[in-house]
Amino acid sequence: MSVQSPSVTATTAADLPPLPHWETQPEDLAEATREIKAALRARIAASGRSVEEVFAVIEARVTQRVEEIEAALAAGENVWPVIDYADIESGAVSPADLELLGRRGCLVVRGHFPREQALAWDAGIVDYVEGNRFFENYRGPADDFFGSVGSKPEIYPVYWSPAQMEARQSDRMARVQGFLNAQWRNESDGVQWFDADRDSLYPDRIRRRPPGVDSAGLGSHLDPGTLDLWMTEAFQRAFRHLFDGTVEQYDPWDAAHRTAGPQYPGSTMCSAFRTFQGWTALSDMDHDQGVLHTVPIPEAMGYLMLRPLLSDVPDDDMCGVTTNQVFPANERWHPLLLRAMAGIPDVRAGDSVWWHADMIHSVAPVEDQKGWGNVMYIPAAPWCPRNEAYSEQVREAFLSGSSPSDFPEEHYEREWPDRFGVDQLNETGRRGLGLA
Ligand SMILES: [Fe+2]
Repeated sequence: MSVQSPSVTATTAADLPPLPHWETQPEDLAEATREIKAALRARIAASGRSVEEVFAVIEARVTQRVEEIEAALAAGENVWPVIDYADIESGAVSPADLELLGRRGCLVVRGHFPREQALAWDAGIVDYVEGNRFFENYRGPADDFFGSVGSKPEIYPVYWSPAQMEARQSDRMARVQGFLNAQWRNESDGVQWFDADRDSLYPDRIRRRPPGVDSAGLGSHLDPGTLDLWMTEAFQRAFRHLFDGTVEQYDPWDAAHRTAGPQYPGSTMCSAFRTFQGWTALSDMDHDQGVLHTVPIPEAMGYLMLRPLLSDVPDDDMCGVTTNQVFPANERWHPLLLRAMAGIPDVRAGDSVWWHADMIHSVAPVEDQKGWGNVMYIPAAPWCPRNEAYSEQVREAFLSGSSPSDFPEEHYEREWPDRFGVDQLNETGRRGLGLA
């Protein structure tokens, strides 16, 4: 959100050598990686700066944040901003809270839903899956990434329960999504990049992790894309300031060129543009029970994008990023960033948790978990060309009870009679699905 003053550059972006781009996944990834890295380095050099100098600018910005977060963690302070839903509803969020949200890129919304409502949704999900004999018919995890060991899944590949749809189309969800979308810079060059007041109801799954489990958690990663972040024209434009000598102007909250481009396919892809990833708690969860962590520094994306261009990374390597796998953040290439890893505070059923969709996140391991760990994944995915295109798939999946096309083709709910029906949609639901 804070944009530093532009630097004086030797030349303007239009005069710089153009970048090659691949709008579909290149066949030879190593060759394309060599080609794009050479082109990005040449473009930065033509702007009158060196890769090392540009990286140092981002590194200094990020280091300041890392040290601030380390100090807060050492002092036992809560790093994650927390805002009461009531303040979002009444428009009473303080400027200081807004500033912190912009700086940290993450948020806990306290009391987003009444606790009894969230617990009733959780019970409703149990009735829904048990009544439809889901556990008897469960065929095992269909993807490795979220696959869990044991007979009962923790991630339920269920998308169309009444609980999920009621939450997605609720006024309270729409209000928080609108508030979060408004933290982005949404208009530039005469273009409005997304509609902040219309969400596309991106359907995702449920996690219900029972008491007593041991869980290895999930390693540090990010979700906005993989090699397409460097190799497609739209993302090259979105990250233009990193590569054209104006790194000081890089703004992680700028939506420009992010809402229409393609994404390379893969088992971990998200076809939608999300301003924030999020989930709503359906049980109380203590901060030390295997919960979500982030590196709460939105600008870290600039570091992640530039780091592969330094000379210690092999020419055909993007610091381990490749298609069809999550974008890893690790000790080998990103030790500075991982120092700032910070977990959510205790949350109660009905609170919701949000993080800027470019941010590094992980799930901590837990042994003998106390209490349930239940969430509904509901992000903020505002209406835009990219989300409108995906909504066609979502509509089809909703009407037929299928798994959405971003997810494995499991289709458990097709014959479940009590899944949420088209006649139960309110105006938010119809608009979100493009049925208005
Ligand atoms: Fe993720």
